[in-house]
Amino acid sequence: MSAPEKIIIDTDPGQDDAVAILLALASPELDVLGITAVAGNVPLSLTEKNARKVCELAGKTDTKVFAGAVRPLVRPLVTAEQVHGQTGLNGPDLPEPTMPLQTQHAVDFIVETLMSEESGTVTLCPLGPLTNVALAMIREPKIVSRIKRIVLMGGGFFEGGNTTPAAEFNIYVDPHAADVVFRSGVPIVVMPLDVTHKALTTGKRIAAFRELGTRVGIATAEMLEFFERFDEEKYGTEGGPLHDPCVIAYLLKPELFRGREVNVVVETASELTMGMTVVDWWGVSKRPKNALVLRDIDAGGFFALLVERLARL
Ligand code: RIB
Ligand code: CA
Repeated sequence: MSAPEKIIIDTDPGQDDAVAILLALASPELDVLGITAVAGNVPLSLTEKNARKVCELAGKTDTKVFAGAVRPLVRPLVTAEQVHGQTGLNGPDLPEPTMPLQTQHAVDFIVETLMSEESGTVTLCPLGPLTNVALAMIREPKIVSRIKRIVLMGGGFFEGGNTTPAAEFNIYVDPHAADVVFRSGVPIVVMPLDVTHKALTTGKRIAAFRELGTRVGIATAEMLEFFERFDEEKYGTEGGPLHDPCVIAYLLKPELFRGREVNVVVETASELTMGMTVVDWWGVSKRPKNALVLRDIDAGGFFALLVERLARL
């Protein structure tokens, strides 16, 4: 096996973020240098606490967790308690964390890590609004050329939006940060709703986690049973889309996904389409291709990977 891929997970837990973090912490192919919390699904005071709760659930209390931006670059914070519950991690009854929150600001950690690690060896995995990542690029532009790649969950194209008809939550909450990131020139892999809406948490798939019989398996089932109810009602589907673990699964098994290199631009002017990812899937704009946008997933293989890895914790 080659050396583990060094990653920083930027996240707003969020039940789906939690499963993504568990998958990363369970996978020896990845070296999680740190987890940086951002305001999104719930306020920062909860996302940083939830990130630590998940690390403790995984038994990885030496993981470094940092708190980052409390609000988007320009717009007021929009949260999603209606999806994730008041705590942001409703479902299981996880204990208050005892592991420490790092004193360094998340943005400073991202900059310091990228400036100290060998250039081109660190991957950023944003699972929430891109505020921390954009702030790091603005704070120290030298990091841009040193980032190996950004693999993010966000946006949508033929699937439309889940927060407005045009925009997906992570991009909608901080469209200006997303614009900074998509214009940066860093190699970007995008996991949009077009993919994640094909990765549904059906009853059988949730049962597979519960049947592990472990604290992680049971807590994961409880998180997903809470998390899926909102989208089941909204979309009339059995199960809800399991968004964020798709990012980590791509690092582990890219062959589970299909997509193409295209141009993506983020709407930051029109209130009607604010935060829309304008994906030029057919190449009609002649704008430069700045992202690998995925559209299809082997959902069976994805859930099999999740169960196999979470069984290791
Ligand atoms: O639109 C889905 C995204 O928004 C996911 O990352 C979910 O956790 C929320 O942050
Ligand atoms: Ca998220």
